[in-house]
Amino acid sequence: PAPSEIGLSSLEFWALPGEAREAAFADLRAREHPAFFPELPVPFVRPGEGFYALVRHADVSEASRHPEIFSSEPSATSIPDFPAYMERFFGSLINMDDPRHAKIRRIVSRAFTPKMLDKTEEDVRRRAARIVDELIETGPGDFVAKVAVRLPVEVICDMLGIPERDYPRVIERTNVILGNSDPEYTGIKPGRVGRVTAARALFKIIWAARDLHRLAAGLGRQRVENPTGDLVSALVNANVDGERLTVRELGSFFLLLVVAGNETTRTALSHALKLFTDFPDQRALLLEDLEGRIGGAVEEIVRYSTPVIFMRRNLTRDHEMNGHTYRAGDKVLLFYNSANRDEAVFEHADVFDITRGPNPHVGFGGPGPHFCLGANLARREITVMLRELFTRVPDIRAAGEPDRLLSGFINGYKRLPCTFTAP
Ligand code: HEM
Repeated sequence: PAPSEIGLSSLEFWALPGEAREAAFADLRAREHPAFFPELPVPFVRPGEGFYALVRHADVSEASRHPEIFSSEPSATSIPDFPAYMERFFGSLINMDDPRHAKIRRIVSRAFTPKMLDKTEEDVRRRAARIVDELIETGPGDFVAKVAVRLPVEVICDMLGIPERDYPRVIERTNVILGNSDPEYTGIKPGRVGRVTAARALFKIIWAARDLHRLAAGLGRQRVENPTGDLVSALVNANVDGERLTVRELGSFFLLLVVAGNETTRTALSHALKLFTDFPDQRALLLEDLEGRIGGAVEEIVRYSTPVIFMRRNLTRDHEMNGHTYRAGDKVLLFYNSANRDEAVFEHADVFDITRGPNPHVGFGGPGPHFCLGANLARREITVMLRELFTRVPDIRAAGEPDRLLSGFINGYKRLPCTFTAP
């Protein structure tokens, strides 16, 4: 069957090469009616009520812009509704509507403004320089482990006040939580999901989430007594409607920041190397004027690779969009990858073009209250790292195909061999 017939519900679809998946989305965009999928593209949850796929840029934007109709409750990050025992670990602002969402987001949002990020840019640069030092010292190898994983995790952990000895723990727990459909992290083979293996996978996720909550609670206890100016100090001392965050709320917010702050940017950095290998003309353009073109390059990397594939919204009332009436209670998935290849908005959408402008991609989410809190931070990290790499090892290249994360949610690479000539 054609990829679009396999359906987004199946992990087989997400195992297809990128071009085949994008072709299927192009086919869905061309259809008159929105595509409805009766099942969930995750292997270990009970079948749900199905979802509509929003695949056009206009629809994804409209849904993002109208949270009163397209709600993030009960969940924006998970296709099935969280059962209560999951809710306590993942019930963070990304799965909330205003006004509570805005109040919680405000506790930390100042730390992510360009002005505050200016203050830490030098620190990010030093970290990137050290990572490249070690890359040069140790020689070619897996770009994901040697470079892409490291900067985002160091930066977000430092912002939260997580000590260095816990970085490996954070990486491992994030992999389990976001890699939850990949056999490497769950032990489940796609398509052969029995109840026992499903339960085991679920248990692993809960275990990882609980461990991050435990880390948050430990740091929180220290920061109540001795606030240090890090994000955990801000969270434990925040006052929302006259009350402190509960231990669970602290844990969920902490988990969101840790998870959202590292896997996504890691994905963008890994794709960047692959893209500048596959499109040598774009590499030449970038190297010709690194400072002038890096900003556009970062936006185009995020558009083209779309690290976060979708978010979910839930219809609060009947609503007509693009000739279809959605009903109250319907689930829709906002496929950012598809919106980012919509020819109605992007000329030659399948071409990686770092000089593209304007570039109204929705890689950080559509316009609205949930627009990625860390977008400016991610942009800085990618900019700083690429600048460092292309200045010091300008011939760095992917040396083969990536080992892709099997996931319908994150367009990730687990490993990507790289090669370069040491300076
Ligand atoms: C939200 C993508 C980096 C923290 C989002 C959303 C997307 C996204 C698509 C939209 C959620 C929605 O509309 O429901 C990305 C990509 C990144 C990235 C592609 C890197 C290239 C980061 C970083 C952080 C972060 C570095 C740092 C902590 C968050 C948070 C939210 C969010 C907290 C929830 C915001 C809210 O619900 O108000 N991100 N993100 N992200 N992102 Fe990012």
